[in-house]
Amino acid sequence: MSAAPTAAEQRLHENLLAVALEAAAGAVDLIHTNRPIELSVEAKSSATDHVTQMDRASESLIRSIIERRRPDDRIVGEEEGDSGSGDSGITWYVDPIDGTTNYVYDHPGYAVSIAAVVDGIGTVGVVADPTHGRTYHAVRGGPASCDGRPLRLGPPPSIAGALVATGFSYDAERRGRQGEVVARLLPRVRDIRRMGAAAVDLCSVAAGRVDAYFEAGLSAWDLAAGSVIAEAAGARLGALDGGPARPGSVLVAHPELFDPLLDLLQELGAADV
Ligand code: IPD
Ligand code: CA
Ligand code: CA
Repeated sequence: MSAAPTAAEQRLHENLLAVALEAAAGAVDLIHTNRPIELSVEAKSSATDHVTQMDRASESLIRSIIERRRPDDRIVGEEEGDSGSGDSGITWYVDPIDGTTNYVYDHPGYAVSIAAVVDGIGTVGVVADPTHGRTYHAVRGGPASCDGRPLRLGPPPSIAGALVATGFSYDAERRGRQGEVVARLLPRVRDIRRMGAAAVDLCSVAAGRVDAYFEAGLSAWDLAAGSVIAEAAGARLGALDGGPARPGSVLVAHPELFDPLLDLLQELGAADV
């Protein structure tokens, strides 16, 4: 068990949380409240992986807020990359719009995801989901909350009773393999959800809106904030091969569901997609 934070660490964590909340609120105002009528949509890694001018504007705004308040920190964002090492030991992971496909279609469930990692440890996470009017946040060690209300996992279901969220890669061949795993999983669980924003999926486990979430092939900015929130709410995180959770491979679930679901997912080939 990690030691309780010192008073100086607590002040730092409060400062990081305030910066993340300010940046997320500014980004929500920009992309959601002031959503432009016309989006300029370009393809990135594949024909289905899109970026809009609002992904770029959101990241630029978030970076400017972090840089103003925390000039010595490093920032890694999806659209502008890595600012290089800062002096403070703190790295921010920024997904300026998680769920860009939802955003492009004006479909509910996109989010702004911002995490602060202190000396390699995910410490602060903020995920703002404006179409549902929810902002989730947590500091490592708990509690996790959404708009002032504590987040609680749902009661642990049996595998057959579990509502399981997942997501798919932008690479067509990998999507095909992921779809085959889901086809084998579907008859074994209550149902499957594919909501379209990994950060919200992680928060949905924390809030008891789904029982588990798994995905292979995320990036650090997809996972960083939501994993702090899910862990602070009491969920267990790991990789699909049984190791520690990493962007390339993640399963998050109620601690009592985790092992049996991991065994099933491995049997169905989820670790090999
Ligand atoms: C994507 C979403 C999606 C997940 C993909 C991510 P983006 O992020 O989180 O739910 O399945 O793996 O890449 O591209 O919309 O920021
Ligand atoms: Ca993302
Ligand atoms: Ca994104």
